[in-house]
Amino acid sequence: MERLDKFLSARGTLSRKEAQKSIKSGEVTVNGEVCRTADFKVDPETDAVSLRGQAVCADEHVYIMLNKPPGVVSATEDKRERTVIDILPPELRRKGLFPAGRLDKDTEGLLIITDDGDFAHRMLSPGKHVEKRYIAQIDGEITDEMITAFENGIIFADGTECMPAKLEIIPNSGGMSGLVTICEGKYHQVKKMFSAVGHKVVHLQRISIGNLYLDSNLPIGYAKKLTKLDIDAIFVGNIH
Ligand code: URA
Repeated sequence: MERLDKFLSARGTLSRKEAQKSIKSGEVTVNGEVCRTADFKVDPETDAVSLRGQAVCADEHVYIMLNKPPGVVSATEDKRERTVIDILPPELRRKGLFPAGRLDKDTEGLLIITDDGDFAHRMLSPGKHVEKRYIAQIDGEITDEMITAFENGIIFADGTECMPAKLEIIPNSGGMSGLVTICEGKYHQVKKMFSAVGHKVVHLQRISIGNLYLDSNLPIGYAKKLTKLDIDAIFVGNIH
């Protein structure tokens, strides 16, 4: 059981003080009845709480799929740039959201935004071997030598060693686009891997994390809430 004001502030965009004010002024209902008591105990599993007529999501954590557009940064706040949090629609916003992993400013595609730190750690830890897949368009043709170099583990100029990665040529791309599968998330990893074999990435899009794929019906710049089932798909078949 949780205090009503705490329940609201933990799940909405209200501070604890604002939640108390809303409760006092009759803006909050519990199971359809107005409740003006801030320390009223609610059961997040069974009680339906609404604020100004809008149902308040009872889940402890939220998981959002964003089809990240280019031009926004993977950060919670930034003095100059628009962030992936800034572009979320108001109904998906809540306190404590952060991007679970980063995509470069010019990279597009699947980004998960959550307020669940344990989940983010589990997904991002290289030891967990969660595969991330990218479509990379490069400034030349992908060769068998490059595929082998990725398989053997690329070594960056500074000596940093990458884990073995898969590079597959995407049909009908003139040999210039590849599907890259990596299990880690070093800074600028895909771009640096191609740079190590003498090429520049001209377009990069992440299409999956584990068995969770970017929803092809989700337009670029749009976001949607994920279900527990979607989140579980990230780890399906993951033995670590
Ligand atoms: N690798 C990169 O180089 N950039 C990204 O945004 C993600 C992976």
